[in-house]
Amino acid sequence: MLRRSSDIAPSEITPRDLFERRREFLRDIGLAGIAAGASALVLPAFAQGPAKVFANAKKSAFSTTEPATPYKDVTTYNNFYEFGTGKEDPAERAGTLKTRPWTVMVDGECAKPKRWDIDEIVRLAAVEERIYRMRCVEGWSMVIPWNGFPLSELIRRAEPTSKAKYVEFVTLNDDRQMPGLRSGVLEWPYVEGLRIDEAMHPLAILCVGLYGELLPNQNGAPVRVVVPWKYGFKSAKSIVRIRFTEQEPRTAWNKAIPREYGFYSNVNPAVDHPRWSQARERRLGEFGKRPTLPFNGYAEQVASLYAGMDLKRYF
Ligand code: MTE
Repeated sequence: MLRRSSDIAPSEITPRDLFERRREFLRDIGLAGIAAGASALVLPAFAQGPAKVFANAKKSAFSTTEPATPYKDVTTYNNFYEFGTGKEDPAERAGTLKTRPWTVMVDGECAKPKRWDIDEIVRLAAVEERIYRMRCVEGWSMVIPWNGFPLSELIRRAEPTSKAKYVEFVTLNDDRQMPGLRSGVLEWPYVEGLRIDEAMHPLAILCVGLYGELLPNQNGAPVRVVVPWKYGFKSAKSIVRIRFTEQEPRTAWNKAIPREYGFYSNVNPAVDHPRWSQARERRLGEFGKRPTLPFNGYAEQVASLYAGMDLKRYF
């Protein structure tokens, strides 16, 4: 199932529905987006093929200089169990997900709960590109140019109370749009969580696009979390709720198999999964394996969050 690198330009393989959604999206945000200061948005030249919504986004200093995984691999080799457990299922089946209208409820232990419209979130995101490594717990990795903004910006606006120790992320739970929900493979909805200081870390982003385009459905449209120093399953897709809690959230994979998937799930080559080693990884598009780095290569930025913690115990 692993693919070779390919030189196909995203514009050649952009599926028709994505193209049409982009057109709808641009109509929806219209001039309002530009008035709100979203100077990175460009109007598309449809005559020349689909344009990149976030074409002028600035590359963040947090970006890796490693080459990005080809668009085709990023968008056809996915984990999104709401659309099936096969790697190709999400790309084949996620067309049923309707991403407009869409809202994200931000609530729980905070002074200013708010139901955000997705297009307000997209406008906040229009300025930055983050090229991050993503390491899946299963042993493969990619490098993905995301379009997003620090999750902390949204959290600050909610004014969490002193009781807000954790942040919970909840994915859409609608089996008419997500056929995989009819299977019992996980307890739905998909829920993930972070400690609040992890969620406030500048590397943790809310993401609405990749490769300068709106997120394809299979990658978690219209909005997902990306936490690059943790295994990929911590980065919940298609989220509808962000909730501040006093207690550690009960997360989907931890509930399903607690022995294998801890709450923290920081990438750690020194702590093996009970069924396989985590010391090495296969980068999609490459042959052979490369060593996995502590915190997925982001140790310098995030290791201090875990000072004094036994990471074998809090895996
Ligand atoms: N979010 C939801 N809602 N459902 C999922 O099954 N899979 C996770 C994560 N987020 C998943 C999810 C896993 S295991 C990984 S590795 C990443 O999404 C994959 O993200 P990608 O397909 O964009 O590379």
